Amino acid sequence: MAQGSIHKSKILVVDDEPSFTGMLEILLKVEGFVAIRAVNDAREAAGAFIGFEPNLVILDLNMPGMSGLEVMAQIRDLAGDRWIPIVVVSGENDGDTVTKALQSGAQDFIGKPFRRAEVVSRLRNLLKVKVLQDEVEQKNLFLQERVEAGTKELLESHKDLIRRLSRCSEYRDDDTGHHIQRVSRTSEVLSRGTGLSPEQMAVVREAAAMHDIGKVGIPDAILLKPAKLTPEEWEIMKTHTLIGAALLAGGNSPLLRLSEQVAMSHHERWDGKGYPAGLGGEEIPLAARIVSVCDVFDALTSRRPYKEPWPAERAKEELVAQGGKQFDMDLVTLFLERWADLVEIREFYPDAPRGTTWPGRSAY
Ligand SMILES: [Fe+2]
Repeated sequence: MAQGSIHKSKILVVDDEPSFTGMLEILLKVEGFVAIRAVNDAREAAGAFIGFEPNLVILDLNMPGMSGLEVMAQIRDLAGDRWIPIVVVSGENDGDTVTKALQSGAQDFIGKPFRRAEVVSRLRNLLKVKVLQDEVEQKNLFLQERVEAGTKELLESHKDLIRRLSRCSEYRDDDTGHHIQRVSRTSEVLSRGTGLSPEQMAVVREAAAMHDIGKVGIPDAILLKPAKLTPEEWEIMKTHTLIGAALLAGGNSPLLRLSEQVAMSHHERWDGKGYPAGLGGEEIPLAARIVSVCDVFDALTSRRPYKEPWPAERAKEELVAQGGKQFDMDLVTLFLERWADLVEIREFYPDAPRGTTWPGRSAY
Protein backbone atom coordinates (compact mmCIF):
# COMPACT_ATOMS: atom_id res chain seq x y z
CA MET A 1 0.00 0.00 0.00
CA ALA A 2 1.40 3.38 -1.00
CA GLN A 3 2.01 5.92 1.78
CA GLY A 4 0.36 8.42 -0.51
CA SER A 5 -2.99 6.75 -0.15
CA ILE A 6 -2.80 7.16 3.64
CA HIS A 7 -1.79 10.79 3.33
CA LYS A 8 -4.77 11.50 1.07
CA SER A 9 -7.05 10.43 3.91
CA LYS A 10 -9.32 13.14 5.25
CA ILE A 11 -9.06 13.78 8.99
CA LEU A 12 -11.71 15.63 11.00
CA VAL A 13 -10.54 17.06 14.35
CA VAL A 14 -13.26 17.98 16.88
CA ASP A 15 -11.95 19.81 19.96
CA ASP A 16 -13.13 22.99 21.68
CA GLU A 17 -9.54 24.23 22.13
CA PRO A 18 -8.42 26.18 19.02
CA SER A 19 -4.84 26.04 20.27
CA PHE A 20 -5.02 22.23 20.34
CA THR A 21 -6.66 21.83 16.91
CA GLY A 22 -4.17 24.36 15.47
CA MET A 23 -1.23 22.47 16.90
CA LEU A 24 -2.57 19.12 15.70
CA GLU A 25 -3.21 20.53 12.23
CA ILE A 26 0.40 21.69 11.94
CA LEU A 27 1.67 18.37 13.26
CA LEU A 28 -0.39 16.36 10.75
CA LYS A 29 0.61 18.55 7.84
CA VAL A 30 4.29 18.18 8.75
CA GLU A 31 3.71 14.41 8.65
CA GLY A 32 2.35 14.66 5.12
CA PHE A 33 -1.40 14.73 5.70
CA VAL A 34 -3.06 17.28 3.47
CA ALA A 35 -6.80 17.06 4.11
CA ILE A 36 -7.54 18.20 7.64
CA ARG A 37 -10.58 20.02 8.95
CA ALA A 38 -10.87 21.36 12.50
CA VAL A 39 -14.13 22.05 14.34
CA ASN A 40 -14.10 23.82 17.70
CA ASP A 41 -17.85 23.69 18.38
CA ALA A 42 -19.03 20.14 19.08
CA ARG A 43 -22.51 21.01 17.77
CA GLU A 44 -21.00 21.59 14.32
CA ALA A 45 -19.31 18.19 14.22
CA ALA A 46 -22.23 16.37 12.54
CA GLY A 47 -22.50 18.98 9.76
CA ALA A 48 -18.74 18.87 9.19
CA PHE A 49 -18.85 15.07 9.08
CA ILE A 50 -21.56 15.14 6.38
CA GLY A 51 -19.86 17.83 4.30
CA PHE A 52 -16.23 16.74 4.66
CA GLU A 53 -16.76 12.94 4.62
CA PRO A 54 -13.63 12.18 6.68
CA ASN A 55 -11.80 8.86 6.70
CA LEU A 56 -10.86 9.30 10.38
CA VAL A 57 -12.13 11.47 13.26
CA ILE A 58 -10.06 12.78 16.18
CA LEU A 59 -12.44 13.65 18.99
CA ASP A 60 -12.17 15.39 22.35
CA LEU A 61 -14.40 14.12 25.17
CA ASN A 62 -15.09 17.19 27.31
CA MET A 63 -16.56 19.98 25.26
CA PRO A 64 -19.19 22.64 26.10
CA GLY A 65 -22.60 22.24 24.46
CA MET A 66 -22.20 18.59 23.58
CA SER A 67 -20.02 15.81 24.96
CA GLY A 68 -17.59 13.80 22.87
CA LEU A 69 -19.65 10.66 23.50
CA GLU A 70 -22.75 12.37 22.07
CA VAL A 71 -20.77 13.46 19.02
CA MET A 72 -19.52 9.89 18.65
CA ALA A 73 -23.10 8.55 18.68
CA GLN A 74 -24.10 11.09 16.00
CA ILE A 75 -21.16 10.12 13.82
CA ARG A 76 -21.92 6.40 14.18
CA ASP A 77 -25.51 7.09 13.07
CA LEU A 78 -24.41 9.16 10.10
CA ALA A 79 -21.74 6.63 9.06
CA GLY A 80 -24.26 3.79 8.95
CA ASP A 81 -22.53 0.71 7.52
CA ARG A 82 -19.32 2.56 6.74
CA TRP A 83 -16.44 2.04 9.15
CA ILE A 84 -14.94 5.41 10.14
CA PRO A 85 -12.27 5.10 12.85
CA ILE A 86 -12.68 7.51 15.76
CA VAL A 87 -9.68 8.37 17.97
CA VAL A 88 -10.54 9.96 21.30
CA VAL A 89 -7.99 12.44 22.61
CA SER A 90 -8.65 13.57 26.16
CA GLY A 91 -6.99 14.95 29.26
CA GLU A 92 -9.16 12.59 31.29
CA ASN A 93 -7.27 9.39 30.79
CA ASP A 94 -8.31 7.37 33.83
CA GLY A 95 -9.31 3.75 33.28
CA ASP A 96 -13.07 4.35 33.42
CA THR A 97 -13.03 7.12 30.83
CA VAL A 98 -10.84 5.12 28.48
CA THR A 99 -13.08 2.06 28.83
CA LYS A 100 -16.26 4.10 28.29
CA ALA A 101 -14.85 5.75 25.19
CA LEU A 102 -13.76 2.43 23.70
CA GLN A 103 -17.08 0.78 24.59
CA SER A 104 -18.92 3.65 22.90
CA GLY A 105 -17.23 2.92 19.61
CA ALA A 106 -13.86 4.68 19.68
CA GLN A 107 -11.08 2.72 17.98
CA ASP A 108 -8.31 4.24 20.05
CA PHE A 109 -7.72 6.52 23.02
CA ILE A 110 -4.84 8.94 23.36
CA GLY A 111 -4.30 10.81 26.63
CA LYS A 112 -3.26 14.44 26.76
CA PRO A 113 -0.53 15.50 26.83
CA PHE A 114 0.68 13.10 24.19
CA ARG A 115 3.92 12.26 22.53
CA ARG A 116 4.02 13.34 18.91
CA ALA A 117 5.61 10.13 17.59
CA GLU A 118 3.01 7.99 19.37
CA VAL A 119 0.04 9.94 17.98
CA VAL A 120 1.40 9.84 14.45
CA SER A 121 2.09 6.08 14.65
CA ARG A 122 -1.36 5.31 15.96
CA LEU A 123 -3.06 7.43 13.31
CA ARG A 124 -0.96 5.85 10.58
CA ASN A 125 -1.85 2.34 11.78
CA LEU A 126 -5.55 3.09 11.88
CA LEU A 127 -5.47 4.76 8.47
CA LYS A 128 -3.63 1.78 6.96
CA VAL A 129 -6.44 -0.48 8.16
CA LYS A 130 -9.03 2.00 6.90
CA VAL A 131 -7.44 2.27 3.44
CA LEU A 132 -7.12 -1.51 3.17
CA GLN A 133 -10.71 -1.97 4.23
CA ASP A 134 -11.92 0.59 1.69
CA GLU A 135 -9.95 -1.21 -1.01
CA VAL A 136 -11.52 -4.55 -0.09
CA GLU A 137 -14.98 -2.97 -0.08
CA GLN A 138 -14.35 -1.40 -3.48
CA LYS A 139 -13.18 -4.72 -4.90
CA ASN A 140 -16.18 -6.53 -3.43
CA LEU A 141 -18.50 -3.94 -4.90
CA PHE A 142 -16.80 -4.23 -8.27
CA LEU A 143 -17.02 -8.04 -8.20
CA GLN A 144 -20.64 -7.93 -7.09
CA GLU A 145 -21.51 -5.56 -9.94
CA ARG A 146 -19.65 -7.83 -12.41
CA VAL A 147 -21.50 -10.91 -11.16
CA GLU A 148 -24.87 -9.12 -11.28
CA ALA A 149 -24.18 -7.78 -14.78
CA GLY A 150 -23.04 -11.22 -15.94
CA THR A 151 -26.10 -12.92 -14.49
CA LYS A 152 -28.41 -10.32 -16.02
CA GLU A 153 -26.72 -10.67 -19.40
CA LEU A 154 -27.03 -14.44 -19.24
CA LEU A 155 -30.73 -14.22 -18.34
CA GLU A 156 -31.38 -11.72 -21.11
CA SER A 157 -29.59 -13.81 -23.72
CA HIS A 158 -31.50 -16.86 -22.47
CA LYS A 159 -34.82 -15.04 -22.90
CA ASP A 160 -33.73 -13.62 -26.24
CA LEU A 161 -32.83 -17.07 -27.53
CA ILE A 162 -36.18 -18.43 -26.41
CA ARG A 163 -38.07 -15.60 -28.11
CA ARG A 164 -36.15 -16.27 -31.30
CA LEU A 165 -36.95 -19.96 -31.00
CA SER A 166 -40.64 -19.15 -30.60
CA ARG A 167 -40.49 -17.23 -33.87
CA CYS A 168 -39.60 -20.46 -35.70
CA SER A 169 -43.19 -21.57 -35.35
CA GLU A 170 -44.67 -18.31 -36.54
CA TYR A 171 -42.27 -17.95 -39.45
CA ARG A 172 -44.05 -20.43 -41.65
CA ASP A 173 -47.73 -19.80 -41.11
CA ASP A 174 -48.12 -16.50 -39.28
CA ASP A 175 -46.60 -13.83 -41.43
CA THR A 176 -47.22 -10.97 -39.01
CA GLY A 177 -46.15 -12.97 -35.96
CA HIS A 178 -49.15 -11.40 -34.26
CA HIS A 179 -50.88 -14.67 -33.42
CA ILE A 180 -47.92 -15.62 -31.23
CA GLN A 181 -47.82 -12.15 -29.68
CA ARG A 182 -51.55 -12.18 -28.94
CA VAL A 183 -51.62 -15.67 -27.44
CA SER A 184 -48.54 -14.80 -25.38
CA ARG A 185 -49.96 -11.52 -24.00
CA THR A 186 -53.50 -12.77 -23.45
CA SER A 187 -52.17 -15.85 -21.63
CA GLU A 188 -50.23 -13.60 -19.28
CA VAL A 189 -53.31 -11.46 -18.59
CA LEU A 190 -55.50 -14.53 -18.09
CA SER A 191 -52.97 -16.04 -15.69
CA ARG A 192 -53.65 -13.16 -13.27
CA GLY A 193 -56.09 -14.35 -10.68
CA THR A 194 -55.10 -17.99 -11.00
CA GLY A 195 -52.84 -17.86 -7.95
CA LEU A 196 -49.61 -17.64 -9.94
CA SER A 197 -46.87 -15.27 -8.76
CA PRO A 198 -45.79 -12.33 -11.01
CA GLU A 199 -42.64 -14.33 -11.90
CA GLN A 200 -44.73 -17.36 -12.87
CA MET A 201 -47.07 -15.16 -14.94
CA ALA A 202 -44.06 -13.84 -16.87
CA VAL A 203 -42.96 -17.45 -17.46
CA VAL A 204 -46.46 -18.31 -18.74
CA ARG A 205 -46.19 -15.41 -21.20
CA GLU A 206 -42.89 -16.69 -22.61
CA ALA A 207 -44.01 -20.33 -22.60
CA ALA A 208 -47.25 -19.43 -24.40
CA ALA A 209 -45.21 -17.96 -27.24
CA MET A 210 -43.80 -21.43 -27.90
CA HIS A 211 -47.06 -23.39 -27.85
CA ASP A 212 -46.94 -24.19 -31.59
CA ILE A 213 -43.18 -24.56 -31.94
CA GLY A 214 -43.72 -28.18 -33.03
CA LYS A 215 -45.17 -26.91 -36.31
CA VAL A 216 -41.59 -26.69 -37.55
CA GLY A 217 -41.85 -30.45 -37.98
CA ILE A 218 -45.08 -30.41 -40.04
CA PRO A 219 -44.61 -30.65 -43.82
CA ASP A 220 -45.51 -27.56 -45.86
CA ALA A 221 -48.03 -29.55 -47.89
CA ILE A 222 -50.07 -30.00 -44.72
CA LEU A 223 -49.29 -26.87 -42.69
CA LEU A 224 -49.90 -24.52 -45.62
CA LYS A 225 -52.64 -26.48 -47.37
CA PRO A 226 -55.38 -23.97 -48.28
CA ALA A 227 -58.10 -26.61 -48.05
CA LYS A 228 -59.58 -29.10 -45.64
CA LEU A 229 -57.09 -31.70 -44.39
CA THR A 230 -57.70 -35.39 -44.98
CA PRO A 231 -57.99 -37.55 -41.83
CA GLU A 232 -54.41 -38.78 -42.39
CA GLU A 233 -53.11 -35.24 -42.82
CA TRP A 234 -54.98 -34.19 -39.69
CA GLU A 235 -53.28 -36.96 -37.69
CA ILE A 236 -49.92 -35.61 -38.86
CA MET A 237 -50.97 -32.06 -38.01
CA LYS A 238 -51.80 -33.16 -34.47
CA THR A 239 -48.24 -34.36 -33.94
CA HIS A 240 -47.06 -30.73 -33.65
CA THR A 241 -47.81 -31.11 -29.94
CA LEU A 242 -45.49 -34.09 -29.57
CA ILE A 243 -42.81 -32.56 -31.77
CA GLY A 244 -42.91 -29.31 -29.76
CA ALA A 245 -42.66 -31.16 -26.45
CA ALA A 246 -39.77 -33.27 -27.78
CA LEU A 247 -37.94 -30.13 -28.91
CA LEU A 248 -38.26 -28.59 -25.46
CA ALA A 249 -37.82 -31.76 -23.40
CA GLY A 250 -35.04 -31.99 -20.82
CA GLY A 251 -34.73 -28.22 -20.29
CA ASN A 252 -33.25 -27.24 -16.96
CA SER A 253 -35.03 -23.93 -16.49
CA PRO A 254 -38.59 -23.42 -15.21
CA LEU A 255 -39.36 -21.66 -18.49
CA LEU A 256 -38.31 -24.59 -20.66
CA ARG A 257 -40.10 -27.10 -18.45
CA LEU A 258 -43.32 -25.07 -18.57
CA SER A 259 -42.94 -24.52 -22.31
CA GLU A 260 -42.67 -28.27 -22.80
CA GLN A 261 -45.96 -28.77 -20.90
CA VAL A 262 -47.69 -26.05 -22.91
CA ALA A 263 -46.44 -27.36 -26.26
CA MET A 264 -47.54 -30.87 -25.32
CA SER A 265 -50.95 -30.14 -23.79
CA HIS A 266 -52.44 -26.99 -25.34
CA HIS A 267 -54.89 -29.09 -27.42
CA GLU A 268 -56.07 -31.21 -24.52
CA ARG A 269 -59.69 -30.64 -23.53
CA TRP A 270 -61.27 -30.34 -20.08
CA ASP A 271 -63.64 -33.24 -20.98
CA GLY A 272 -60.74 -35.50 -21.92
CA LYS A 273 -61.52 -35.54 -25.67
CA GLY A 274 -58.47 -33.59 -26.77
CA TYR A 275 -55.03 -34.68 -27.96
CA PRO A 276 -52.35 -35.99 -27.82
CA ALA A 277 -52.84 -37.77 -24.46
CA GLY A 278 -56.58 -37.34 -23.81
CA LEU A 279 -55.91 -35.76 -20.41
CA GLY A 280 -58.92 -34.32 -18.61
CA GLY A 281 -59.68 -31.64 -16.00
CA GLU A 282 -56.80 -30.67 -13.75
CA GLU A 283 -54.64 -33.42 -15.21
CA ILE A 284 -53.96 -30.82 -17.89
CA PRO A 285 -51.25 -28.42 -16.63
CA LEU A 286 -52.70 -25.01 -15.70
CA ALA A 287 -50.49 -23.11 -18.17
CA ALA A 288 -51.66 -25.36 -21.00
CA ARG A 289 -55.32 -24.79 -20.00
CA ILE A 290 -54.69 -21.03 -20.05
CA VAL A 291 -53.02 -21.13 -23.47
CA SER A 292 -55.79 -23.37 -24.81
CA VAL A 293 -58.50 -20.75 -24.14
CA CYS A 294 -56.38 -17.90 -25.50
CA ASP A 295 -55.31 -19.86 -28.58
CA VAL A 296 -58.89 -20.76 -29.51
CA PHE A 297 -60.17 -17.24 -28.85
CA ASP A 298 -57.46 -15.93 -31.13
CA ALA A 299 -58.16 -18.49 -33.87
CA LEU A 300 -61.89 -17.71 -33.78
CA THR A 301 -61.36 -13.96 -34.08
CA SER A 302 -58.73 -14.31 -36.84
CA ARG A 303 -59.12 -14.54 -40.59
CA ARG A 304 -58.18 -17.87 -42.11
CA PRO A 305 -58.13 -18.87 -45.78
CA TYR A 306 -61.23 -20.92 -45.08
CA LYS A 307 -63.12 -18.48 -42.80
CA GLU A 308 -63.74 -14.84 -41.94
CA PRO A 309 -62.84 -13.60 -38.46
CA TRP A 310 -65.62 -14.00 -35.91
CA PRO A 311 -66.78 -10.85 -34.09
CA ALA A 312 -65.49 -10.83 -30.50
CA GLU A 313 -69.00 -11.24 -29.06
CA ARG A 314 -69.60 -14.41 -31.09
CA ALA A 315 -66.24 -15.80 -29.93
CA LYS A 316 -67.27 -14.99 -26.35
CA GLU A 317 -70.46 -17.05 -26.76
CA GLU A 318 -68.40 -19.96 -28.06
CA LEU A 319 -66.00 -19.80 -25.08
CA VAL A 320 -68.94 -19.83 -22.67
CA ALA A 321 -70.58 -22.72 -24.55
CA GLN A 322 -67.31 -24.69 -24.33
CA GLY A 323 -66.74 -23.98 -20.62
CA GLY A 324 -66.56 -27.31 -18.80
CA LYS A 325 -66.33 -29.13 -22.17
CA GLN A 326 -63.30 -27.92 -24.08
CA PHE A 327 -62.13 -25.42 -21.45
CA ASP A 328 -61.70 -25.09 -17.71
CA MET A 329 -64.87 -23.18 -16.72
CA ASP A 330 -62.97 -21.17 -14.07
CA LEU A 331 -60.65 -19.88 -16.79
CA VAL A 332 -63.60 -18.99 -19.03
CA THR A 333 -65.06 -17.00 -16.10
CA LEU A 334 -61.70 -15.25 -15.62
CA PHE A 335 -61.53 -14.59 -19.35
CA LEU A 336 -64.88 -12.81 -19.23
CA GLU A 337 -63.79 -10.80 -16.17
CA ARG A 338 -60.76 -9.55 -18.10
CA TRP A 339 -62.66 -9.26 -21.36
CA ALA A 340 -61.89 -5.59 -22.08
CA ASP A 341 -58.12 -6.05 -21.61
CA LEU A 342 -58.06 -9.20 -23.71
CA VAL A 343 -60.01 -7.68 -26.60
CA GLU A 344 -57.69 -4.67 -26.45
CA ILE A 345 -54.68 -6.97 -26.92
CA ARG A 346 -56.52 -8.61 -29.83
CA GLU A 347 -56.93 -5.21 -31.48
CA PHE A 348 -53.39 -4.04 -30.70
CA TYR A 349 -51.88 -6.83 -32.82
CA PRO A 350 -54.11 -6.91 -35.94
CA ASP A 351 -54.09 -9.53 -38.67
CA ALA A 352 -52.42 -8.63 -41.96
CA PRO A 353 -54.85 -7.06 -44.49
CA ARG A 354 -57.00 -9.43 -46.52
CA GLY A 355 -55.15 -11.02 -49.42
CA THR A 356 -51.73 -10.53 -47.91
CA THR A 357 -51.88 -13.34 -45.38
CA TRP A 358 -49.76 -16.39 -45.78
CA PRO A 359 -52.06 -19.30 -46.65
CA GLY A 360 -51.45 -20.75 -43.21
CA ARG A 361 -53.58 -23.12 -41.23
CA SER A 362 -54.45 -23.10 -37.58
CA ALA A 363 -54.57 -26.47 -35.91
CA TYR A 364 -58.32 -25.96 -35.60
FE1 LIG B 1 -51.34 -25.84 -31.61
